[in-house]
Amino acid sequence: MEESILKVSTPNYSLICSLALFFCFYLFSSVSFAAPANTGEELYQYYCAQCHGVKADGKGVNATEDLPTAPKDFTSPKTLPVFTDEQIVKTIVHGGPAVQLSFIMPSWAEILSDDEVELLRAYLRKTCNCKYDPEAAAKAEAEKST
Ligand code: HEC
Repeated sequence: MEESILKVSTPNYSLICSLALFFCFYLFSSVSFAAPANTGEELYQYYCAQCHGVKADGKGVNATEDLPTAPKDFTSPKTLPVFTDEQIVKTIVHGGPAVQLSFIMPSWAEILSDDEVELLRAYLRKTCNCKYDPEAAAKAEAEKST
């Protein structure tokens, strides 16, 4: 008798547990991962400004002496013109090491959608008012190897 009650109630508990877990996951994911913003500038201010600076000048609150690699000034003609659009996208999606930069620049693959990355790339190009410049890139490469 007791055994049959147990048999009936066990699947119900697991169903309740699964539903509860699913619900928690749903709540958690919608609160922490949903993009709070949808323009490039808003995304930038939310995800990037703490290191790269609210004015994209590399002076974010996290850019202290304790940060092993300092973010550069995005508005400087030395920073973004040396990267192609593809490299900028790669850097955002896969992080610094994907383009031989510091691991301090994190990968955003798990957090940002392709559309959001594209909005950010466009926003960064706006902050520097620049395009890829092969000459600047060659110069930066030469400076690196000296
Ligand atoms: C934890 C701090 C941190 C955060 C947050 C961060 N970055 Fe970076 N990022 C860096 C650092 C440091 C570098 C420079 C790496 C180097 O020069 O080796 C960098 C480099 C870059 C570069 C390559 C250009 C350059 O400076 O040489 C791009 C593009 C970039 N970040 C975009 C972004 C975007 C877009 C976001 C937000 C989605 C973001 N970063 C968030 C730290 C950060």
